[in-house]
Amino acid sequence: MKKIVVLTGAGMSAESGISTFRDSNGLWENHDIMEVASPEGWERNPALVLEFYNARRRQLLEVSPNAGHLALVELEKHFDVQIITQNVDDLHERSGSLNVIHLHGELRKSRSTAYPHLIYPCDVDIRIGDHCEKGSQLRPHIVWFGEEVPMLDRAADLVDEADIVLIVGTSMQVYPAAGLVGYAVPGTPIYYVDPKPAINFELKRMGNLKVMAEMAGAGVSKLVAELLANRDS
Ligand code: APR
Repeated sequence: MKKIVVLTGAGMSAESGISTFRDSNGLWENHDIMEVASPEGWERNPALVLEFYNARRRQLLEVSPNAGHLALVELEKHFDVQIITQNVDDLHERSGSLNVIHLHGELRKSRSTAYPHLIYPCDVDIRIGDHCEKGSQLRPHIVWFGEEVPMLDRAADLVDEADIVLIVGTSMQVYPAAGLVGYAVPGTPIYYVDPKPAINFELKRMGNLKVMAEMAGAGVSKLVAELLANRDS
């Protein structure tokens, strides 16, 4: 089976009703990244950080996967599909995708601040005073700015082994995630679905890039139909 790696960002979930970060009225227009998504912000005001993620988690429980997520599940019936997402929502999993790697963590999980290997399912608000089994404060299981990306090496290996790479709904600005496409073997077909595609340094070097300036719902559905029609070629 041909291997397809799908690199997704916030635009993948936009049509499900989840705000992106850098579009107009995006999350970073209404919140200070360093206050709500950094270890320094956590040290300064953990309650503010907890409320930022509590609000996003409450919203996540109200939304559903969109046509783009469902099209990728269709793709998995005929290709070995590995999804590597920057998103912390679980919409890929809820749509039925089986192989999902979260580079930046998962909103529906919490973890111990003192014992980071202690990770728990979390569908409720996290409060100051909520502790892990060893008595340490719980935090969102999210990779904050300045923290390492534990799944990066695994993700790079998958891109290196890919026969086809799809990129959906990311502004290609945040490294190391934005550099992953650079691990693709030269000549690997790259498809980039985004209404405002951002051709970063790595994409500029890709010889076999096809850009589809469309939203994920329609664009990914069209792309999946094309890949399925040509799957035996
Ligand atoms: N369909 C597809 N793409 C869309 C849609 C849509 N309906 N709506 C917006 N987009 C695109 C935008 O054009 C933009 O390129 O989604 C992208 C969103 O970019 P960002 O908001 O920067 O989100 P992302 O690239 O995922 O951010 C990366 O930055 O803040 C950190 O950790 C956070 O994982 C996040 C990382």
